[in-house]
Amino acid sequence: MGFYEAQILPRVVDRALGGSELGRLRARVAAGLDGEVLEVGFGSGRNVPYYPAAVTRVRAVDPAEVGRKLAAQRVAATPVPVEYVGLDGQTLPLADESVDHVLTTWTLCTIPDADAALAEIRRVLRPGGGFHFLEHGRSNQPTVARWQDRVTPVQRRIAGGCHLNRRIDALVAGSGLEIAQLATYYVKGPKVMTYMYEGVATKP
Ligand SMILES: C[S@@+](CC[C@H](N)C(=O)[O-])C[C@H]1O[C@@H](n2cnc3c(N)ncnc32)[C@H](O)[C@@H]1O
Repeated sequence: MGFYEAQILPRVVDRALGGSELGRLRARVAAGLDGEVLEVGFGSGRNVPYYPAAVTRVRAVDPAEVGRKLAAQRVAATPVPVEYVGLDGQTLPLADESVDHVLTTWTLCTIPDADAALAEIRRVLRPGGGFHFLEHGRSNQPTVARWQDRVTPVQRRIAGGCHLNRRIDALVAGSGLEIAQLATYYVKGPKVMTYMYEGVATKP
């Protein structure tokens, strides 16, 4: 990983994914989490203030070292213990069926093999547990989706491997998790980057 990806990008992402509009969405997707939670793509800990009081512990997975530094104040300010357990969502160092819920926000776009990460999420979730996700991805408008296909090669280079054109609902369903809730919508910003998939999928 070069200087830009290791040092600059995590700070840019921390800024870009702050703000009150996204904060409201973070609160919504974190609602209903309780017990032992795994957060894949923990980043700079932007979800930490929104963990419900019923969460007893969070296990965090993320490769970005600078993210940990940026997260430190948020982690120190929460009563929820946060434990860093790994660097890669594609190979989770956790036992089968060992967590109550999993949370990802704006992460499945970046993990190189999203299918592998989702298979791991399914493996570590207890039966009945929920995968809470808030992700950007492929628009349901064909014109926007075509632009997403065109722009994704550039986006991957400048944004740490981020794909704009992944069908998040199809990826989640393909992992064998059952989508219980799903909303798709645009937030403010260029349409190629702002088509959201927000939902909960459960492990049968
Ligand atoms: C766009 S950022 C989102 C960060 C955070 N989830 C948020 O909502 O602010 C994508 C995150 O995915 C992380 N990431 C990249 N590859 C990963 C992998 N293989 N496993 C887990 N996380 C990864 C990045 O380090 C980064 O923190």
